Amino acid sequence: MKVLIIGSGGREHALAWKCAAAEHVREVLIAPGNAGTALEPKCRNTAVDSGDIPALVELARRERVELTIVGPEGPLVAGVVDAFQAAGLPCFGPTRQAARLEGSKAYTKDFLARHRIPTARSRTFTRQDYDPTWLEHQSLPVVIKASGLAAGKGVIIAETRDEARTAIGGMFAGRFGTAGEQVIVEEFLRGEEVSFIVMADGSHVLPLATSQDHKRRDDGDRGPNTGGMGAYSPAPRVTPELHARIMREVIEPAIAGLAAEGTPYTGFLYAGLMIAQDGTPNVLEFNCRLGDPETQPVLSRLRTDLTVLCEAAVRGRLDTVSADWDPRAALGVVLAAGGYPDAARKSDRIEGLERAAALADGHGKIFHAGTRLEGDAVLTDGGRVLCAVGLGESVLAAQRTAYGLVEVIYWPDMRYRRDIGYRAIERERQTL
Ligand code: AMP
Ligand code: GLY
Repeated sequence: MKVLIIGSGGREHALAWKCAAAEHVREVLIAPGNAGTALEPKCRNTAVDSGDIPALVELARRERVELTIVGPEGPLVAGVVDAFQAAGLPCFGPTRQAARLEGSKAYTKDFLARHRIPTARSRTFTRQDYDPTWLEHQSLPVVIKASGLAAGKGVIIAETRDEARTAIGGMFAGRFGTAGEQVIVEEFLRGEEVSFIVMADGSHVLPLATSQDHKRRDDGDRGPNTGGMGAYSPAPRVTPELHARIMREVIEPAIAGLAAEGTPYTGFLYAGLMIAQDGTPNVLEFNCRLGDPETQPVLSRLRTDLTVLCEAAVRGRLDTVSADWDPRAALGVVLAAGGYPDAARKSDRIEGLERAAALADGHGKIFHAGTRLEGDAVLTDGGRVLCAVGLGESVLAAQRTAYGLVEVIYWPDMRYRRDIGYRAIERERQTL
């Protein structure tokens, strides 16, 4: 079969690599892809932008693509799945209506309330109905969120009321474009953050192996928020008890609620949760897609053919399949360009990729994100450039493998965290 992957990041490289590994997959097209997908066996980059929905449909038709998997949220929220469905092309992902779960935080807060799914207390305002006196009664810190898609930058944790006022004013003034037309003012929650990712087919759910990312740029989970500086799987924090609780209190009511409201959810669903002291899994956000970089370690452990899982989901038959996981742990370290998460420098030549690939053979993999090919050279082309994934008998062992790969890679001003997985490793130590 022929598969199409939409997107160009590390998550999409992992999706393409995993699909290409299936014997019955003849070719994987990536729109538009990166240097990693260009060099991957059985994979071919196509010069189609991930946001150009008519061109994507045309590509899938022309190439007789039998399964499309969508990586990023942008095309999902814009309705890429609806367009593929209308053209009779199988495409795994939520429809535009279902993708509102990520595309509109205001909608999601109401949805969570309607279905009694635990989440932080909040109020949603527009510029017209904003009540400034209300803020004076909120305890600090307070969380200010732009409702729409803001490339991961639309959440501000305000330590003072002045900061909160500035954040709200900025959003209403158009700092995040239309994403800030509705603003959510939310209670600050304490606890431990956990991500939980499942596949859904409208009614059935298949949870993926647990994983956890590190969102802050610097060691010790300090510094500015990023898309994610590293991730590992499994996440020892998600004990079997917590897993059951998240399924029962968050995932099952969400999937059932969406179906009951006439917007059944098919696709990957990512819940960002804050686990309270008493174990309550509070929803911070939903993403209508896989996490990046969580996907890189998670798919590194998947033994089942991913195309079989996605096809079953598109047919509404996720109940007929199961996923088999490598018992080893996987840990990915993101290598970023200087300047990230702000504007990053580009076009540096990356050295050591062949040596890293030889070292990784059977024990890990270097996934590309912001890279491009120029002749034979692989150049940096974005903030997050690579993700080095190592496998091992424990998270600690996987961490050692991953950093072993990092050591042989070089470009000027390459940045990375040196402590990815530290919480999980601490937990492993305590349970020994
Ligand atoms: P979000 O995009 O909504 O997940 O927010 C990005 C990050 O902000 C999350 O990963 C959390 O670290 C933090 N965050 C969001 N909402 C809250 C909250 N209500 N309380 C504490 N931290 C939050
Ligand atoms: N790693 C967080 C995300 O993909 O949203």
